[in-house]
Amino acid sequence: MDLNRKIIAIDGPSASGKGTVASRVAAALGFDYLDSGALYRLTALYARQHNADWSDEAAVAALAEQLPAGFDGGRILLGGQDVTEAIRTEAIGMGASAVAQLPKVREALLQRQRAFLTEKGLVGDGRDIGSVIFPDAALKIFLTASARIRAERRAKQIGVPTQGVAFERILADIEARDEADSRRAVAPLKQQPDALLLDTTHLTIEESVKKVLDWYAKI
Ligand code: DC
Repeated sequence: MDLNRKIIAIDGPSASGKGTVASRVAAALGFDYLDSGALYRLTALYARQHNADWSDEAAVAALAEQLPAGFDGGRILLGGQDVTEAIRTEAIGMGASAVAQLPKVREALLQRQRAFLTEKGLVGDGRDIGSVIFPDAALKIFLTASARIRAERRAKQIGVPTQGVAFERILADIEARDEADSRRAVAPLKQQPDALLLDTTHLTIEESVKKVLDWYAKI
């Protein structure tokens, strides 16, 4: 069987809910799940631990090459240490966005991402899963939602009211990251011509998961 038929690529902006949707789709199909953003976040954290500047391409790429990453159930490990929560901070998110702009870092993480694919099948989420990592994936989806809705989801997740100064800061951070991820020279965030658009602004997680499964059933 052509293994490409067992790959679903879900790309889209930060806080769009693609991680939740991708992991639930993977569970429903019995596929593995690749959270590629976690690799960039781990690289940012690892660089910080080694006092490497996030803009120092050679140093960060060398660290990315030998990134001691581990995925254990839902937990994410770095050098054996559980960093699941530590990599989700806004600061590390900005660091991930910075290191993700460096071509040598993307190159260093390329094979590592492809190695997640086995006979079981794979749902991968990120920015360039359908364009660069698995260009022959059977199903490619660009999953997005309005910046305001994404900010509201993020705020609810971390217990911040959906209006006021703290909320406006979350919204501004999301817009800044969209801008950085969309404008960068390598693998910018954008819907590819062969990706189906899934706008979840008015959809629940369950509805979004169902949509992806329906699409997959039709290929
Ligand atoms: O999806 P996320 O928020 O965890 O991603 C963190 C950062 O990593 C994001 O700013 C963009 C970058 N990224 C990327 O460039 N390519 C990917 N495949 C995944 C994430």
